[in-house]
Amino acid sequence: MIYLDNAATSFPKPEAVCAEMDRCMREYCANPGRGGHALSIRAGMAVNHAREKISEIFNISDPMQLVFTKNATEAINIAIKGAACEGCHFITTAMEHNAVMRPLKTLERDMGAEISIVSGNSIGEIDPEDVREYIKSNTVMVISTLSSNVNGIVMPVADMGRICREAGVLFLVDASQGAGSIALDVEACMIDMLAFPGHKGLLGPQGTGGLYIRRGIMLKTLMEGGTGSNSEYIYQPGIMPDRFESGTMNTPGIAGLGAGAGFVIKTGLDRIHEHKSYLVSLLTDGLSQIPGIIFYSVADKNRNSGIVAINVGDLDSTELSCLLDRDFGICTRAGLHCAPAAHGVLGTERRGIVRFSAGCFNTENEIFNAVDAVDRIVSSTKYKYP
Ligand code: ALA
Repeated sequence: MIYLDNAATSFPKPEAVCAEMDRCMREYCANPGRGGHALSIRAGMAVNHAREKISEIFNISDPMQLVFTKNATEAINIAIKGAACEGCHFITTAMEHNAVMRPLKTLERDMGAEISIVSGNSIGEIDPEDVREYIKSNTVMVISTLSSNVNGIVMPVADMGRICREAGVLFLVDASQGAGSIALDVEACMIDMLAFPGHKGLLGPQGTGGLYIRRGIMLKTLMEGGTGSNSEYIYQPGIMPDRFESGTMNTPGIAGLGAGAGFVIKTGLDRIHEHKSYLVSLLTDGLSQIPGIIFYSVADKNRNSGIVAINVGDLDSTELSCLLDRDFGICTRAGLHCAPAAHGVLGTERRGIVRFSAGCFNTENEIFNAVDAVDRIVSSTKYKYP
């Protein structure tokens, strides 16, 4: 089996992640922050260790401003809905995932929110100055992906952050793609809120993610409940991270995420990004020798977080992805990738795209085998194509 679906979930995980989750379940999986006994304290320490490691990756100076969630979608919903008010205006890009688009459309329908969408060029790259053009008096937030989950294109978040800070508008970055391989500094990029999944580039398990909220930003809560703090107070506390962490946490998952973040730090973001970029360029070069391949991604490492997005002739993307899986054991993702607007930009809203997404454990040989598999599908009469 060759796993090239790391943009959906990274696989496999570092041994240290599996070991830490196992250790947590066997040795210290008590309730963090809910008791003064030794095991509760140990569980709390594992959660805080993960907060510190992830803060190190994103240069977050106060780890208490980092809230754990069950995934990036939950983090994005907290950020967007927490800042929304009647008639407010949001700016976003056409390359966003439904995790951004659907909350915005819901606010448009239910709250009269306005949405402006920056469309960019034919592969989704935007000019940050276009963001400035859309800012108006009721703009509350600009939301951008760090990198598209469809074709890996990297957004100019540093420039967008500066424009937002100058205009006094909140800037939310969805780092679902790129976290754990693209160096991202929330201070330098003037990012007010950063949503990330734990199970992709940070190499943790599914069911983990988080939201960084810059100190001083007060969001409404989506959910209230027990936090283990200020229990005598009848309303949700304002202290961070408790305000957004009601209910018992996913301690084994977060412990595993801490180990994943530790692995990323030890390996080095630059090394991981170099490796993925090398695989992207190998795959792009190999596929470009095959007649009929249409590319929607670029191989330039400064513009791609690790994805090769293609179609073959007029073949449906699902068909190619299924053949790769069935006959060659190669895992890719086809279809619309929960980002229909991005496919609108790329002109692939009808048949989707086949997405190959590299991970830090993929090898050169796997890429050569993937190229060979596509070549066989294209040239074999067995598949009657082209
Ligand atoms: N958002 C994930 C993807 O792009 C699941 O596949």
